[in-house]
Amino acid sequence: MSKVNLVTGMRPTGKLHLGHYKGVIENLVKLQDEYNCFYFVADWHALTTKFDKTETLKDDKINVVIDWLASGVDPEKATIYIQSQIPEIAQLHVLLSMITPNNWAERDPTLKDMVKIIRSGDENVQMSYGLLGYPVLMSADIMTFNAEVVPVGIDQVAHLEITRDIARRFNNLYKTELFNEPKPKLTQVSLLKGVDGQKMGKSFHNDIKISDDEETTTSKIMKAITDRSRLRKNDPGHPEDCEVVFDYYKVFADEETVNCTKHECMAGTRGCADCKRQMAKIINETFAPVREKRLQYVNNPKTVRDILSAGCEKARPIAKEMLAKAYDVMNLS
Ligand code: TRP
Repeated sequence: MSKVNLVTGMRPTGKLHLGHYKGVIENLVKLQDEYNCFYFVADWHALTTKFDKTETLKDDKINVVIDWLASGVDPEKATIYIQSQIPEIAQLHVLLSMITPNNWAERDPTLKDMVKIIRSGDENVQMSYGLLGYPVLMSADIMTFNAEVVPVGIDQVAHLEITRDIARRFNNLYKTELFNEPKPKLTQVSLLKGVDGQKMGKSFHNDIKISDDEETTTSKIMKAITDRSRLRKNDPGHPEDCEVVFDYYKVFADEETVNCTKHECMAGTRGCADCKRQMAKIINETFAPVREKRLQYVNNPKTVRDILSAGCEKARPIAKEMLAKAYDVMNLS
């Protein structure tokens, strides 16, 4: 039996952090064995808000792909490509934009939030035609490959609701069953906090990157907050109040280490600095193979380019066929 199609994209935010790794990338690695996976970098979507900041776009895209590959996304299993290299997505987007009522896009709560965020950061940025079409473009990404399953974070579910509406409307209008109504597959939200206890994020300057070297990782973790009520090294600690470091133990250390850390902390026999030093060592050991593989890709950019062109070559015939079918039912061919 052939596998079900799955599509998911990530905006090119540059080098990814451990929150991405735990929340998204591990999932991509797992899903590539279960579905016919299409993984892409959504560079057009980046332009919906950053059309005037494209200086780093090229590097940002490649870094996302390198982080995927280094973390185990396998181009033999998943089809990996850059959105803007598949013109059929844009062509389907035009068709879908014709049948999408404005108010479907305007209703999208994620978009409303996005506008608020944009406005709070920069008074001059306004809702563009492209940004309004964000969910329509996302629908084209998904429908071009007729995905049935779309792994996304909870914040993307509203977009996907619009995709289902658009697919249904298309099928009704043109009396066809061409498009699936894709279902979201919720990505487990990564609870990994940044070293300062806030949500981990590049813009908060509190993230640990997959690509950080050992020294950088260690120095970031040494700055992490621990149990705030613990003033002296020999004071008994409260692991459950140690929101960052003990949480990292729960995510990255084995059970025995977690228990031992907990007891030594509570007994006041292990200071926070030692605890952080050990955590840094665990993270560095965990990511050593990923980082090594990453460096190989960084040093051989042609390998990455070849993987992306192969992915594009694999994706385009599928995209072309889908577009031809849409042309057909709309009497455009
Ligand atoms: N909007 C998604 C995000 O910001 C990225 C994305 C673009 C996407 N197109 C997609 C995700 C299609 C899934 C399917 O995370």
